[in-house]
Amino acid sequence: MQVKVFDTTTELDSYAAGLFAAALKAKPDSTLGLATGSTPIGIYEKMIELYEQGELSFKYATTFNLDEYVGLSPDHEQSYARFMNRHLFAHVDLPAGRSHLPSGTAANLEAECAGYDRMLEEQSVDIQLLGLGHNGHIGFNEPDRALQGGTHIVELEQATREANARFFDSLDEVPTQAITMGVGSILKADAILLVVKGADKAGIVKQALQGPITTEVPASLLQTHKNVTVLVDREAGRLL
Ligand code: F6R
Repeated sequence: MQVKVFDTTTELDSYAAGLFAAALKAKPDSTLGLATGSTPIGIYEKMIELYEQGELSFKYATTFNLDEYVGLSPDHEQSYARFMNRHLFAHVDLPAGRSHLPSGTAANLEAECAGYDRMLEEQSVDIQLLGLGHNGHIGFNEPDRALQGGTHIVELEQATREANARFFDSLDEVPTQAITMGVGSILKADAILLVVKGADKAGIVKQALQGPITTEVPASLLQTHKNVTVLVDREAGRLL
């Protein structure tokens, strides 16, 4: 596991976007695993800049997002589908139909999970971008006595709903469930890029990278993967 500490988030974002640009240059039809939340926003901004400068193209790429809220349609303001359009897809040359997110409004959510896994089996992820939850979650795999391998429906922890309430008008509006790729699917990616920003995540990133491997800190399972790069800003990295 390689850990890189950046003085500023801007430098981190440029570096991360550069890694994706290089990967897409080397393999234009890469399959990318993408994340939402506040952590990747700056990275997506830098990717858009690189795209506008002709340094990065998604023309032959395919993307799979980690998760989506149950009950929010793709055009809901706070759905992750909308988030991805707003922050990345609408600004780059990724062809329509080559971005995938689980549907939180599928009539049969179990079948939706199985279908997502089938696609992930057919097109394995080359690089998976991950943020880190304050409780150690990756995707929406919340701490638990056991974790699931494949795509599944999760009950969101109250703390996770509270952390995400900042994007909604009130806590009541934050969905109670999500569909998420499982830890098994995440760990199948060829390369994983874990990005962590901010002083409030210094403790959990230390536990994830240097603590025991436990399902109670889902990100600690990344220690078992052969190709993980961790990018942290100074604040998040201060205990490492
Ligand atoms: C988002 C996701 C989550 C976030 C995590 C951190 O698709 O899978 O695991 O990466 O909750 O969120 P932020 O970046 O908002 O602190």
